[in-house]
Amino acid sequence: MAAGLGKRMKSKLAKVLHPVAGRPMVLYAVDLAQQLAGEHVAVVVGYQGKEVRAAIEASGPRQPVMIVEQTQQLGTGHAVQQARDVFRRLGKSLSTYVILNGDTPLLKPATLQALLRLHQEERAAVTVLTATPGNPAGYGRVVRAKGGRVQKIVEDRDATDAEKQIGEINVGTYVTDGAFLFTALDRLRPRNVQGEYYLTDVVALAVERGLRVSALTVRRAAEGMGINSREQLAAAERVIRRRTCAHWMREGVTLRNPATTSIDADVVIGRDTVIHPDVTLEGRTTIGEDCIIRSHTRISDSALGHRVVVQDHCVVREARLEDDASIGPFAHLRPGAVLRRAAKVGNFVEMKKAELGEGSKANHLSYLGDAKIGKGVNIGAGTITCNYDGHKKYDTVIGDDVFIGSDTQLVAPVTIGKGAVIAAGATITADVPPDTLAIARVQQINRPGWASRQRALQTGGSLPPSRKLTSMKADKVSGKSSGRDVKPAKRRL
Ligand code: UD1
Ligand code: CA
Repeated sequence: MAAGLGKRMKSKLAKVLHPVAGRPMVLYAVDLAQQLAGEHVAVVVGYQGKEVRAAIEASGPRQPVMIVEQTQQLGTGHAVQQARDVFRRLGKSLSTYVILNGDTPLLKPATLQALLRLHQEERAAVTVLTATPGNPAGYGRVVRAKGGRVQKIVEDRDATDAEKQIGEINVGTYVTDGAFLFTALDRLRPRNVQGEYYLTDVVALAVERGLRVSALTVRRAAEGMGINSREQLAAAERVIRRRTCAHWMREGVTLRNPATTSIDADVVIGRDTVIHPDVTLEGRTTIGEDCIIRSHTRISDSALGHRVVVQDHCVVREARLEDDASIGPFAHLRPGAVLRRAAKVGNFVEMKKAELGEGSKANHLSYLGDAKIGKGVNIGAGTITCNYDGHKKYDTVIGDDVFIGSDTQLVAPVTIGKGAVIAAGATITADVPPDTLAIARVQQINRPGWASRQRALQTGGSLPPSRKLTSMKADKVSGKSSGRDVKPAKRRL
C-alpha cells in the first residue's frame, strides 16, 4: 500500500517517496514483497502515483511489479480492494496474501518469513505482526481477549482511554487467507473517526466468523516502526545507516568512525577500503578495494576502482575514477568527470564532462569542462577550459603527452595536438599542431626605476633631486614639459 499522501509529513512529496538512506521508502516494501512472492507483487499507488511507479521502475526491480491505482484514498482496506482485479487476472487463485504498509522500511525478511510460517502452522485466516514500542501513541492497538487471543485492532483515534493504555500495536504487516481476504474487504464499512475503510477491521470480521486470528510480536519494536513524521523518518534513517555500516564492516571495510559515516542502502564497497570520519556515500556509488576516502567528502552515484585515494573535502557526483586515481583535497568532480587509471586531480580543481587520461595530472586550481584529455598530460596550475560563450558549450581536446603551462586559458572549441607544449600564461584561441610550442601572451616590458618614482608621486612628490633630474631629462627627450604634466609617470605606463 503506497497510495497515501502522508499528511503528518507536512510535505509536497508523497510519504513513500521520501528517501530513507538514499532509497525511496516504498522500495523497501517492494523489495521485501518480491523476496517473498516474486512476480506476484502488486503495489497500490495513488497520490503522486506516476512518480511512485517511476521510482519502482528506476530501481530495477527483480521482477516486474503490478501497479494498481487507488484514485481516492479511502483507507487501507479500500487500497487492498483495488488489487483484487490484477490478482484475478493472473488466472489462478492465490492461497495466501501478504500485505505490507509502504511506510515500514525497517522490516526484515526473516520476520516476514516467521509471520508466514506462523500463519500456515496455525491455519489462520489472518495473522498480524505486532510490536510493543516505548510509545504506542499514533498506532492501532491490538485488543486481546482474556485468554490472549486477538479480538480486534483499534485505531489510535478511535480508541477509548482504556484501549489507549494498551502497549501492543499493529505494525501494519499481515498475512491473510486468499479466500477470506476479498470477501472480508467487501464487508468493511467506514464507521470510524476518519470515515475510512480500515484494513485492520478484517481482524474483527474474522473473529466474528469464528476464524482463527494469529499474531507474532517482533522482538525489537524498532523493526516495526511506521514512518508518519519527519522525526520517525530520521529515526528510521539512523537504524538503516547503523545496519549498513555494520554490514560493510563485516564485509571487510574499515570505518574509522561509523557513527559519522553515512552510507546509502545501494552503495557497494570493496574490502580493505578505509573510510575516515564524516564521509557521505550516496545513491548507486560503488567503491573498489583498498581505497582511502578521507573526511568531509561526499560521493554520489559514482564508480571508483581499486586503490583510489580521495583526500579531504571532495565532492564527487556521477563521476568515474579508475584504479589508482587520486583526487583532492578540495576537488569537485561533477557529472561526466572521468579519471583514467592513475590520473591525478589536486586541490581546487573542478571537472565536468571531462576525461583525464591515464597518468595525467591536473594538480592545482583548474576548471576542466567538456574536455577530452589524453595520457601523460600535465595540466598546469590555473588552467581553464573556456567552454561556454553564454549560449553554447564547446569541446577542448588535448592529445597524449601534452604539457599545458600554468595559467592557460583554452578557448574552446580547440584541439591541442599530441606532445605539444603550451607556454605558461597563454590564451589559446586556435588549434595547436602536434609537437609544437605555442606562446600566446603579451610581450614583457621592464621599466627600471619606475616603481620608486611612482611611490614618491603618490606620497607627495618629494623625490631626491638627482632622480628628479633624471626624470626631467627623460621628459625633455620625449619633448614634453614636466611642468605642465600632472602625472607623467602614469602616462608613460
Ligand atoms: C496503519 C494502521 C495502524 C497501524 C499503522 C502501522 C490502518 C487503518 N491502520 O495506520 O493500525 O498501527 O498503520 O504503521 O490500516 N494507504 C493507501 N491508501 C489509503 C490509505 C493508506 O495506500 O487510502 C497506504 C499509505 O500510503 C501507507 C499505508 O497505507 O503506506 C498506511 O497508511 P497510514 O495512513 O500511514 O496508516 P496509519 O494511520 O499509520
Ligand atoms: Ca503509517
